[in-house]
Amino acid sequence: MAPLVRIASAKQPGDVEALARLLVDAVDGGASVSFMAPLSLERAEAFWTSCLADPATVVVVAEDAGEVVGTVTLHLVQIENQPHRGEIAKVLVLRSARRRGIATTLMRAVEAEAVARGRTLLVLDTVSDSDADRLYRRLGWIPVGSIPNYALFPDGRPCPTTVFYRDLS
Ligand SMILES: CC(C)(COP(=O)(O)OP(=O)(O)OC[C@H]1O[C@@H](n2cnc3c(N)ncnc32)[C@H](O)[C@@H]1OP(=O)(O)O)[C@@H](O)C(=O)NCCC(=O)NCCS
Repeated sequence: MAPLVRIASAKQPGDVEALARLLVDAVDGGASVSFMAPLSLERAEAFWTSCLADPATVVVVAEDAGEVVGTVTLHLVQIENQPHRGEIAKVLVLRSARRRGIATTLMRAVEAEAVARGRTLLVLDTVSDSDADRLYRRLGWIPVGSIPNYALFPDGRPCPTTVFYRDLS
């Protein structure tokens, strides 16, 4: 069955904790998603609390049987001459729920949400030649190029990053 997709909220009981569990699971799994290992649940909760408090940040979650199993964030760029641009971040699916199309559903949903908010040019970056890199290419995102040693994996190894964009206008 297709997951239920909705916008997360600080007022929704359990959202911050569920998002934190997703982030910790991704870091534990070795994903390069801004944080080094080990990532505590408390630190992850502080991160999502500030995201949900930011009016320029839209956090979308996917639920399966009442459990949050995936998320994606849309940052509404606040630069005066880029009112049409958004940035996608933190595309995370629980390791136990991967390869079932949840990220695909989330990306379609966040693209629709971006267009609804007038954000027709989206950018993101991800580890080159990763699961996510394949996902974005499959969904029509255009790779701009790869930057060596851009970020670190949670264990400290450097990783190359590919920058993508998607024009939804
Ligand atoms: C990248 C990530 C979000 C993908 O999530 P996902 O829900 O597994 O993605 P999907 O299920 O939509 O697609 C993944 C694969 O499953 C396949 N798939 C999708 N639905 C399927 C189904 N019903 N049955 C079998 N396979 C399926 C897809 O074809 C795809 O195959 P590929 O990897 O060989 O190209 C996930 O691996 C993740 O959270 N990684 C760690 C965090 C990370 O690196 N995020 C990116 C940061 S920018």
